[in-house]
Amino acid sequence: MLDLARMMRDLGQEGYVIPRPHPTLVTRRVLVMEELTGFKFDDVVAMQDAGIDTENVIRTGLIAFMEGALIHGVFHGDLHGGNLFVMHDGRTALLDFGIVGRLSSSRRIAFLRLMLGASTNDLHGQVSALRDLGALPLDSDIDAVIRDLRLDQTTIDPTTLSGEELVKEVQRIVKALLAYGAKLPKELMLYVKNMVFLDGAIARLAPNLDLLAEVATISMVFTQRHGETLGRDLGIDPSAVEFNFDSVKASLGVENSTNSLTYRELQQRRDLIQEFNFDSVKASLGVENSTNSLTYRELQQRRDLIQKRMREHVTK
Ligand SMILES: Nc1ncnc2c1ncn2[C@@H]1O[C@H](COP(=O)(O)OP(=O)(O)O)[C@@H](O)[C@H]1O
Ligand SMILES: [Mg+2]
Repeated sequence: MLDLARMMRDLGQEGYVIPRPHPTLVTRRVLVMEELTGFKFDDVVAMQDAGIDTENVIRTGLIAFMEGALIHGVFHGDLHGGNLFVMHDGRTALLDFGIVGRLSSSRRIAFLRLMLGASTNDLHGQVSALRDLGALPLDSDIDAVIRDLRLDQTTIDPTTLSGEELVKEVQRIVKALLAYGAKLPKELMLYVKNMVFLDGAIARLAPNLDLLAEVATISMVFTQRHGETLGRDLGIDPSAVEFNFDSVKASLGVENSTNSLTYRELQQRRDLIQEFNFDSVKASLGVENSTNSLTYRELQQRRDLIQKRMREHVTK
C-alpha cells in the first residue's frame, strides 16, 4: 500500500488517492486507515449528476495503471468494483492491497518491449518479450513460433470468419502454443485481469471514448514523462520511435482506413463475433441455430435418442 502510494506521488499522479494509514493505531496485524467516501464505481449516473468527467476517470486510470506497471514495476493486482470508488472531486480512491503485482526489473523491461512492439508493429519484439516474461520457454525459437502460429500473416478480421472457422483458428493457436510449452505467468495474468476490468470500466464510464486517440495520448504521455527511462531500458531514442497506428488498428480488428473507434463501436464488432461463435457452439451440441436455450436435461434426451438409434442400427 505504501509502495503504491509512494509510486503515485513519484509519478505526480494526482488522480488517485490511497488511504493514509493511521500514524499510531496501526499494528502488525491491524491496518487502521482514513475512511474515504465516494461513488460506487459503476454508479455512472450519480457521478455525472455530480459533474464528474467520467471519461477523465478512465483516462487517469489507464495511465496510472500502465505507468505503475511499466515504469515502476508495481501495480494494484486486484482491480474490481469493490476495491475502488470515485470520490466527489473526481479522483479515484484505491483500496485493498491484498494482491500487488510486482515485476522484477527484467520482466518490467520485457513488458515495456511488449508494449513497444505492439505500437510499432514489431512482431519479433513482441514474441521475444513474451518469452522474457516467462510465457514461453527461454530456448523458444521466436521465428518458428511466429511461423507456426502464422502471426506474420495479415491479421484476419474475426468478423469475416464463420463461427466454425473462428473456433478452428483459436483451437489451432492454443494447440500450437501448448506445444511450445507456453504458460501464463502470475504477473501477466494479473495484468490481463486488470485489463479486463478496465475494459468493462470503459464500457460503463466512457462508451464514447475514442480508443485510437486514447492510445496515441498514452504513448505521447509516456514519451514526454518517461523519455529518459524508456531510452535507458529499451536502448532506443523514444522520440525517434515511429508509432504504427496500423498495428494498433489491426489489434482492435479494424480497417486501416478507420480513423476513430469508440468503445461502443468496438463492442458492436465483438457482439458480432460472439454471435458467430454461438452458432458454432450450437452446432457442436447438435442443436439448431434457432434454438436459444438448451437445458442439460434436453441435451441428455438428445444423447439418449442418438444412442437408442445407434443401438437399433447395430442390431439391425
Ligand atoms: N479506507 C477505506 N475507506 C472507505 N471504505 C473502505 C476503506 N477500506 C475498505 N473499505 C470498504 O471495505 C470493503 C472491504 O475492504 P477491502 O480492503 O477491499 O478488503 P477485502 O480483502 O475484504 O476485499 C471495500 O470494498 C470498501 O467498501
Ligand atoms: Mg477487496
